[in-house]
Amino acid sequence: MPTRTLTATPGALDRWRRDTPGCRDRIHLNNAGAALMPQPVLETLTRHLEREAAIGAYEAAEEAAGRVGETYELVGRLVGAAARNIALVENATVAFSQALSAFDFRGGDRIVTTRTDYPSNQLMYLSLARRAGVETVRADDLPTGGVDPESVRRLARHPRTRLVAVSWVPTNSGLVQNARAVGLVCAELGVPYLVDACQSVGQMAVDVAELQCDYLAATGRKFVRGPRGIGFLYVSDRMLERGAFPLFIDMRGADWTDPDAFRLADGARRFENWEFAHALVLGLGEAARYALAVGSAGGERAWALAAELREQLAALPGVRVLDRGRERCAIVTIDVRGHDAPDLKLRLRERGVNTSSSDRDDGVLDMDEKRATTVLRFSPHYYNTEDELSAAVEVLAGLIRP
Ligand SMILES: Cc1ncc(COP(=O)(O)O)c(C=O)c1O
Repeated sequence: MPTRTLTATPGALDRWRRDTPGCRDRIHLNNAGAALMPQPVLETLTRHLEREAAIGAYEAAEEAAGRVGETYELVGRLVGAAARNIALVENATVAFSQALSAFDFRGGDRIVTTRTDYPSNQLMYLSLARRAGVETVRADDLPTGGVDPESVRRLARHPRTRLVAVSWVPTNSGLVQNARAVGLVCAELGVPYLVDACQSVGQMAVDVAELQCDYLAATGRKFVRGPRGIGFLYVSDRMLERGAFPLFIDMRGADWTDPDAFRLADGARRFENWEFAHALVLGLGEAARYALAVGSAGGERAWALAAELREQLAALPGVRVLDRGRERCAIVTIDVRGHDAPDLKLRLRERGVNTSSSDRDDGVLDMDEKRATTVLRFSPHYYNTEDELSAAVEVLAGLIRP
C-alpha cells in the first residue's frame, strides 16, 4: 500500500504537469469526478475522430483494429488480467449492471453488500428486490469504518447468498474498504464476488488475482485519466467457463446461429455491446499506457497529497474531515459548518479551484451516520503540487471566514 511520501523521481512531476495542459490555469482537485487527461490521451482521441471524419467511422475502426486489440492488453495489465477477461463498456455502472444481470436471481436469493456501496449499485439491488424478491443484506462496519469481513462471512454463509458485492472505495469519502479480506471470505465460502473498483483503478494497486474476485467494474475518466464515456469489466475465467453472460446479450456478445439458438462469444467480449466508441476505446488504451508508465509512484503521491490536505483542512475553523477507515485514499471529504457544499464548490470553481460535492443520496447510510447533508470533496492526483493544495485551502479559508 502507498506510504506517505511526497517525493516524485526528479523531473517526473514537471513531466506529468507538462503533459497535462489543464493544470496550467486551474487547480484541479476533482480527479474522483474526472481527472485531467494527459496530452497523449487527448491526441489519440482527436486523431481517431479526424480519421473518422476523413475516411468514415467504420473504415477508421478497421484501420485501428490492431490498436483496439492492444487496448484490451493495456487495460488488463492495469488490473492484473489477461486481455480475454476484459470487456470494454460505456462506464462503470454499465459494467456493474452487466455483471449483475449474469445471475439468475430468484425470490428469496440474497446479495450481501456493504453500507457504503455506490448509490446506483444500491438502487440496482433495490430494483432486484422489487422486481424479483431478491433480498439485500448489508454487512456491519468495523468501529474504525469500512466493512467488517467477519460480518460478511456471517451473512454470506446463508444458503440463499448468491453474490457478495463491494464498492472498494465509495464515491463520497476517502474510505478504502478491505476488499482483499472480503475476497478471501468469498473464496473460502465459494460465493461469487463482484468488486466496484471505479474509484480504485489508477490510484492504487489493483490485482484481480489478489482480490479473488469474479467481476470487477471500473471507469476510464477518474484516476486512470481517460476520456468520459468508457469503462470496463473484468470477468474471471471461472465465470466464463461456467457460461455466464449478461441478460440482454447482443450480437457482439453472441452469434444468432439458428432461429432459436445462439452461441456465446469467447471471453469477456460477451459482456460488451455492438456499438463501440472507438475513439474513446483508443483513448482509454492510451490512458492505461500512461498510468502503467507512471506506476505505483502516482498512487503513492496522490495518497500523500490527500493526507497533507486532510491536515490542512482540519485546521480550518468549522471544518470537519469526514473520511473514516484504517486506510484513506486520494479522496478528502469535509463538512463546513454553516455552509452548503454545492455552493462552496461553485465559489471555489469561480476562483480557479475544481472540487466536487456529494449529497445525502450519494450515500444515505454513511451520510446519516456522519450527520452530514452535503460534503465537499477534494481529490488530488499525482500531478498536483503541494503549492496547489495550500492555495486551494487558502481560497476555502477566505470563503468560510465568518
Ligand atoms: C464508487 C463508484 N462506483 C461507480 C461509479 C459510477 O461510475 P460511472 O459514472 O462511470 O458509471 C462511481 C462514479 O462516481 C463511483 O464513485
